[in-house]
Parts: sequence; structure tokens; C-alpha cells
Amino acid sequence: MNVNIFDRPQVQEFLKTVSGLDKPEGDPRIKAIIHRFMTDLFKAIDELDITPDEYWAGIAWINALGTAGQAGLISPGLGLDHFLDLRLDAKDAALGIDGETPRTIEGPLYVAGAPVVHGHARLDDGRDTNGTPLLMHGTVHGADGKPLPGAVVEVWHCDTRGFYSHFDPTGVQGPFNMRRTLIADEAGHYSFRSIVPKGYGVPPGSPTEQLLFALGRHGQRPAHIHFFVSGDGHRKLTTQINIAGDPLVNDDFAFATRNGLVPEIKQHTGGSPVNGVEMGEAFDEILFDFHLTELVNGEDNQAVQRARVAA
Ligand code: DHB
Ligand code: FE
Repeated sequence: MNVNIFDRPQVQEFLKTVSGLDKPEGDPRIKAIIHRFMTDLFKAIDELDITPDEYWAGIAWINALGTAGQAGLISPGLGLDHFLDLRLDAKDAALGIDGETPRTIEGPLYVAGAPVVHGHARLDDGRDTNGTPLLMHGTVHGADGKPLPGAVVEVWHCDTRGFYSHFDPTGVQGPFNMRRTLIADEAGHYSFRSIVPKGYGVPPGSPTEQLLFALGRHGQRPAHIHFFVSGDGHRKLTTQINIAGDPLVNDDFAFATRNGLVPEIKQHTGGSPVNGVEMGEAFDEILFDFHLTELVNGEDNQAVQRARVAA
């Protein structure tokens, strides 16, 4: 037998008290958000007849998640990061902004402070010999469609075990392995050599994975490369490309795959330089241009402030 008490006036009054709405002190925005969240939570407990045991299992899971530092990992897994992107897309559509490279989620594994390199850079330290060498290059375009000289392309990706430097549980990667800040040349051209990454999985046995498994889901991502791209007078773009042919390209637990972000891979058998870069052995080439958008009323209305690791 369930009981429903949510609509009782005492419960509604209690929610206001809980959220500090009966007091002048505090932050009105936080009060409004907490009032809404607590209202929805009380309602869910009441309607789904959530038992105390279920409730306390949830609290234990939140504690474990926090202890593991994984709030930023489950957030994309539950689609929240993608939902925020969809809202930014809708705001752009309302402002008549189009033609941009699609945005997609940042993920939790960016590290600020990567070495700055003008022109071509090598991202990997050569120690991961399981990866196919990769040459990726292209042009950063401004809102007017012209190349953007000096555009900044921050790039980061994982190795063939799915581990990112600074978050590698085996500790074998040096700082900023497979991470750089590239400065495009006078023609807006960027270029880097690295290895083709493999897919990533959330830490096995982690609270993030436990919840995904309880949902009948997995915690795997297709191979991908992350980017922040910025240039004078333009909004900073947060995006990723997926490696074409990865079996999970349309089954990403973090929901980051988007049309326009799965570039073709051209396989080379080696020999002659491509775009001025001598790759030597067999390698893969990805050609990918970025299209940035203008500031809105002089401001970057899509810039995101969030806690980020810096090294
Ligand atoms: C997660 C990991 C990633 O590498 C990524 O790009 C997005 C999300 C995660 O663990 O949640
Ligand atoms: Fe990632």
C-alpha cells in the first residue's frame, strides 16, 4: 500500500522552510533551484514509494561517487552534459547562429596548462607503440568563412589503453602526454602528429559503472579526440571528433557523437610527406576544419566556467 502526502499543505510549507524561502538571508537563485529540486525529489519519493532502504542506498552511492571524484563522470553518462549542449544549440538557433562546427561535451578529463606549440606538433611521447600513427590537420575558419590566423586549438586524447595522462592509473604517462595547445599559422592551419586513440571506459567497479550496469548500460566511449578551439573575436568551441569505424561510434555512454564529428580516415602506406610532414611508416590521416562563430553582443555566451584540473 502506498500513501501520498506530497500535496498536503504542511509538506508544501516544509519545502519552503527547507529551501530558506521563508527567510531574507541567503542566495535567491540557489533557494529557487533547491526548492525546485527538493520539490521534485519529495514528489518522486512519494509517487514511486521509494523505501527508506532504497533512499539510503542512494545516499551511500552519492558518498562513494564523491569519494571517487566521479560526479563529472556520471554526469555525461546520465545525459546531462549532452542536454546542456542541446540547450546551447537551441539558443544558437534562436539567435540565428548557424554554420558552426557542432559542439559536443567537454568530458571530465581536460587538464589546463598543456605546452604551447606554434604550427605542427607531436602529441605522443612515442612510448605507446600499439597505436597507428596519426596525422591530423585542417584550417580554423572564422564566422566570415575566412581562415583565422593564430587560432588556438587545444587538443587532448587518451592512449591505446583508454588512459589519459594525469588520470592514468598505471602512472606510466608523463605530464601532458597527448595534450597540446596548438597555435594555428598565418593561414589558420593547425597540424599535429599523434597515435590513433582507442575507446575509453569508466573505471571498472566504480560507482559510475555500478549505476550504468544497474541501468543495463555500459560505460564505454568510442575512440575520440577532444578540442577547445578559440580565436580573436570568436566564441570558444568545445568539441570532439570520433574515430570512424569504432564499433561504439553510435553507442557512446556519454552521448557525445554527433553528425559532422566523424571525419573520414585516409590510410597511407607511408613514403612521401603529407602536407609537409614526414610520417615515415604507414599512418592514418584526418583532415578536419573548424568553423567558429562570432561573439554575441561582444561576449562569449557559450564559454563554460567549471572546476578543471591544471598542471
Ligand atoms: C568521460 C570520459 C571521457 O573521456 C569523455 O570524453 C567524456 C566522459 C567520463 O568518464 O564520464
Ligand atoms: Fe574523452
